[in-house]
Amino acid sequence: MRVSVVGIGYVGLVVSGCLAAWGHRVTGIEADGDRLAALRSGELPFHEPGLDELVRAGSHEGRLDFGADPRLLSASDVVFVTVGTHDASGGWQTDTLTRALERIVPLVRDDATLAIRSTIPPALVREIDALISRIRAGAGLPGISVVLNPEFTREGSAVGDFFRPDRVVIGVVRDPGEHGVATLRALYQAVDAPIVVTSAVDAAMIKLASNLFLATKISFVNELAGWCEALGASIDEVVAGMAFDPRIGGSFMRPGVGFGGSCLPHQVRMAVRDAAALDVAMPQLAATDETNRRQRHRFVTLLASHLGDLAGQRIGLLGLAFKPGTDDLREAPALSIAELLLDEGAIVVAYDPMERARRTAQALVPRLRVRGRIDEVFDNADAIGLVTEWPEFSAIDWSVLGERMRGALVVDGRNALNPDEIADAGLTYVGFGRPVRSVEHSADLVELRGHDGAPVTRAEREIAAVG
Ligand code: UDX
Repeated sequence: MRVSVVGIGYVGLVVSGCLAAWGHRVTGIEADGDRLAALRSGELPFHEPGLDELVRAGSHEGRLDFGADPRLLSASDVVFVTVGTHDASGGWQTDTLTRALERIVPLVRDDATLAIRSTIPPALVREIDALISRIRAGAGLPGISVVLNPEFTREGSAVGDFFRPDRVVIGVVRDPGEHGVATLRALYQAVDAPIVVTSAVDAAMIKLASNLFLATKISFVNELAGWCEALGASIDEVVAGMAFDPRIGGSFMRPGVGFGGSCLPHQVRMAVRDAAALDVAMPQLAATDETNRRQRHRFVTLLASHLGDLAGQRIGLLGLAFKPGTDDLREAPALSIAELLLDEGAIVVAYDPMERARRTAQALVPRLRVRGRIDEVFDNADAIGLVTEWPEFSAIDWSVLGERMRGALVVDGRNALNPDEIADAGLTYVGFGRPVRSVEHSADLVELRGHDGAPVTRAEREIAAVG
């Protein structure tokens, strides 16, 4: 099929690359000149595993190209709209979408399908329907098929999520002869997943409600983790025991510094506001947001409860992106944590494997000391805090890097590290809802090893000093 994608941001580029890989002929339409030039030279504006290969192959084999002129879409069977719908401070910003519709709707071929993939407030569905009908009628053109086709891809695994979705949702805004639904079914024929055809407002709700539920799960487990901590219980054991119940499951139940990114925090806040505008109270969602904000403070409190006054203390942060596999810093917990620590007078040194994440973080938080190598974060650190669970942090040799620290505290903001390895290296491990593991605990381990040579790790030195 011939497909156009209007707005080559994150969602638009994933759709473009993946549809081209399926053999469709895709034209990406992007108004921003710099971004367009970069795309044409094969440069991706963000990191997404596997996507650059798809974009390069699609461009090379003539199935994918990019342009600025909206008229390029007039030959397409399907026109996707993937422009952004929220502003930098996390509110809805739907003007870009309505302006894009005004430009492109008159250009859509009479028998083509317009598929809106941008996330929209459910209350906007009716307005969009009216706007599109008005534009078509105003231009003396017949009505077209219009559907919502929300995306459920995660950053860091978007390509796999696109090719192997759990479901494809098609929300019908207007579809004479069910032509649009048939077209999208054909477009997605390679997918082995249920195709859910529903009303447009239901589709918009499915999209939002799915993310709201995931966010609620995370805040729920974060609250439980706090309780476990106070009890001396282990959240790992508790979640593992709960997860056997298929009604509960164990995914999205990892406690820590909370959810970030462009979707979850913004959508939770907007849902509370949008529902309130219709006189619907959502106290549970409001609490999901509040608990999430608290987790960032909790991280700082954990550091302070072990270090005392944070002024002048050197804290090394591992990870800046809001999650591994991306260089996206939108609503990244690392940024607010860095600000909180800096406000306490701490010296904050940070590292992320992604160069672009490092650059952006340095620009956003100039007081932060961003470093290009992991060992620089450990040098003279009073404490290390893990904020993003990049796989390379699980492979850290704590007995080696721990030697570079002047303190001995490790706060694991994602419960992603192995407490035994850290305690074994003579450091104190503090997670979220996990029992603290420290030098004292590791004394037994060293004895068990029957180590009789010169002390090598900090733990062994301390044990030797105590006698
Ligand atoms: C989310 C949805 O998962 C996806 O379906 C939708 O299309 C877009 O929004 P994304 O924002 O890429 O995807 O990230 P996701 O994997 O959902 O993680 C969001 C945040 O939650 C991250 O900061 C992550 O670290 C955090 N998280 C996730 C937890 O704190 N605990 C968990 O158990 C899982």
